[in-house]
Amino acid sequence: MNQNISVVPMLFTKEWSLSAKMLWGFVKMGKSWVFPRRNFGYNHFKNLALVYFKLTPACNLHCRMCGQFGDRGVMKNGVLAEEMKTVLSLEQYKKVIDEIAPQRPVTYIWGGEPFLYPDLIPLAKYMVDKGLFVAVNTNGTLMEKYAGDIVRDKWSTIFVSLDGFRETNDTMRGKGAYDRVVAGFAAINREKEKQKSNYPILGVVTTVTNMNYLDLANLAEASRDYKLGVHIFNMGTYTNDNIVAAQRRVMREKLDTDIDCLEGYNTGYNHGIDGQKLHEILRQIHGRDYGHPMITVPVLNPEKTNTYYADLETPVRNHCIVPWCQTNINYNGDVHFCADYPDYILGNVTRQSFREIYNGDRANRFRKEIHAAEQGMFPGCLRCYQNMLFGKKIRGY
Ligand SMILES: C[S@@+](CC[C@H](N)C(=O)[O-])C[C@H]1O[C@@H](n2cnc3c(N)ncnc32)[C@H](O)[C@@H]1O
Ligand code: SF4
Repeated sequence: MNQNISVVPMLFTKEWSLSAKMLWGFVKMGKSWVFPRRNFGYNHFKNLALVYFKLTPACNLHCRMCGQFGDRGVMKNGVLAEEMKTVLSLEQYKKVIDEIAPQRPVTYIWGGEPFLYPDLIPLAKYMVDKGLFVAVNTNGTLMEKYAGDIVRDKWSTIFVSLDGFRETNDTMRGKGAYDRVVAGFAAINREKEKQKSNYPILGVVTTVTNMNYLDLANLAEASRDYKLGVHIFNMGTYTNDNIVAAQRRVMREKLDTDIDCLEGYNTGYNHGIDGQKLHEILRQIHGRDYGHPMITVPVLNPEKTNTYYADLETPVRNHCIVPWCQTNINYNGDVHFCADYPDYILGNVTRQSFREIYNGDRANRFRKEIHAAEQGMFPGCLRCYQNMLFGKKIRGY
């Protein structure tokens, strides 16, 4: 199967400058991986390689496996109006962008649903104009009407979530979601032709669950028509009662923090996935030429696919590098290392500079604790998407 990094040379053939920006991020991440900086007085800000911007807590869908709005999601009952008032303004974001842009991190916009952030278009343009690689992860259902702006402003990539062909996708993401995404792709591809532009590179991200794994090949086939640059199969973030309890203990004892986010991924949508069958489906997909690269995260030894879903307490990746080169800036300005588990707050960009926060005491306290933890990770990291993407491969997995 393709390794994650394999997307870079394939993009090279289309857009040199884009690939160079992405490669720069990978190189910095690679540095944290190969030569980890355990000097806690070090200027970690210099090594900032990837910044997630979670623009809004609001979403227009309730995808069943989602840790935020899904069946067990921490926001399944909606977002309070009071919370919406805390969302950062465009001006506040510009200040943060001005500060981080010289480090040239790859930036990744997500949410909630980023198209519900009212200033998404001017914000993304500002980031592109600052020379940043700007990826936007969206459910794609609100994208069509902005196609002209997106292409004009040269967003680097859009990762659209599609979890299966029409019926399967809509079972997970809600009725009509598939067709709205396809209309969005068509509109963007029309605009790319009209404006004679390669931007943005289009991607599909598919979260694997027991509701869709048998349908992945149908989706891969249908996606031929969407002129994609890449299709990513995300094996999903899952947890169970034991892991949640262990994480709760560690976070309280080591970092004086109460957690509530991990529980959102205790969905059971990993139950019953036949690892052998899934491996066979992925093997066939990776063996065909769809005209764009197919990537599975994490890449696993075929015999271990079952372990991933049936034995959540067995590590497949360890030594999380996120605290040494990445960060997530939440909609209210809180800064976290873990994008999906925003419990431990490093600081807030409305009160401090980002650099102060990233090199500050709370950040270093987290770094020290995770470095000292068994295998360089906490219990909640066992199936965390960031660790699956950037953690060290454990021998045999
Ligand atoms: C939380 S969504 C936010 C962006 C946007 N609303 C969307 O759906 O693409 C970010 C990504 O996480 C994926 N996701 C949802 N539930 C997940 C889970 N349990 N494990 C891993 N990824 C998940 C989504 O499919 C999406 O690709
Ligand atoms: S669209 Fe994204 S954020 Fe909204 S419920 Fe679905 S996965 Fe979660």
